[in-house]
Amino acid sequence: MKDSDRPVGIFDSGLGGLTVFKALRDLLPGENLIYFGDTARVPYGTKSAQAVISFSSEITRFLLERRIKLLIVACNTASSLALDEIRKISPVPVMGVIKPGVDAAAAALPHGGRVLVTGTTATVNSRAYSRALAAAAPALDVTEKACPLFVPIVEEGWCSKPVAALVAREYLAPFRRRKIDALILGCTHYPMLKRVIARVMGPKVKIVDSARAAALAARAELESRGLLNRGRRGASEFVVSDAPERFSDLAGRLLGIRTGRVAVKRF
Ligand code: DGL
Repeated sequence: MKDSDRPVGIFDSGLGGLTVFKALRDLLPGENLIYFGDTARVPYGTKSAQAVISFSSEITRFLLERRIKLLIVACNTASSLALDEIRKISPVPVMGVIKPGVDAAAAALPHGGRVLVTGTTATVNSRAYSRALAAAAPALDVTEKACPLFVPIVEEGWCSKPVAALVAREYLAPFRRRKIDALILGCTHYPMLKRVIARVMGPKVKIVDSARAAALAARAELESRGLLNRGRRGASEFVVSDAPERFSDLAGRLLGIRTGRVAVKRF
């Protein structure tokens, strides 16, 4: 097998990373992609750093056994807490989703402004976004807000139900008075609630979704290493740690992704 034919590995705690998977599939149709959703242990955002590091390391080892050429940590929580540990055990390049999101926010507000970062409790407590934004765009004024109920709402497939709007209003309405210029969707589940979030924030607030930015960064990384697969139609493979039918059903309903058979890997 040529190195460029080897798959790109992507993982998240559950469905959220599929927003990144979808952007990758659109941008890089020739790549073979293998997606792992840790459905047995979702959510990660309420867990300790030790737990997230241990889960992420197990998944990394599993994907490395599948001979991936690049690993995309399509989970902000794991990107915040476990990226260094993952890099220590991975001989292949590892990319997180925070840097692409930060770069996209900096590009959206070239003259500075107020940024609201939304994410899981673990991501917000880690301050990974504040640090990365301070380094990339010091002129930005950054506030972070944990929105822990968003992930279970998405995992339940309730993105268009009234409860999604109610919870979004509860978390975000207080920020309407603060003249926010951009809101970062700092969790890969949140793009599935983008419409609801945008409605609460109003039309003047730019919503920054890192999925496409992460896909563009992945393409640049593969290109620079001569690993881009220029084939016509790459394969897509899905593996979860529990409840494969439910995952497949929700991937179809929420994102229009037809997974086919979903395999199970239990740790
Ligand atoms: N989608 C993940 C993230 O980007 C994890 C959410 C969770 O499992 O709590 O943070």
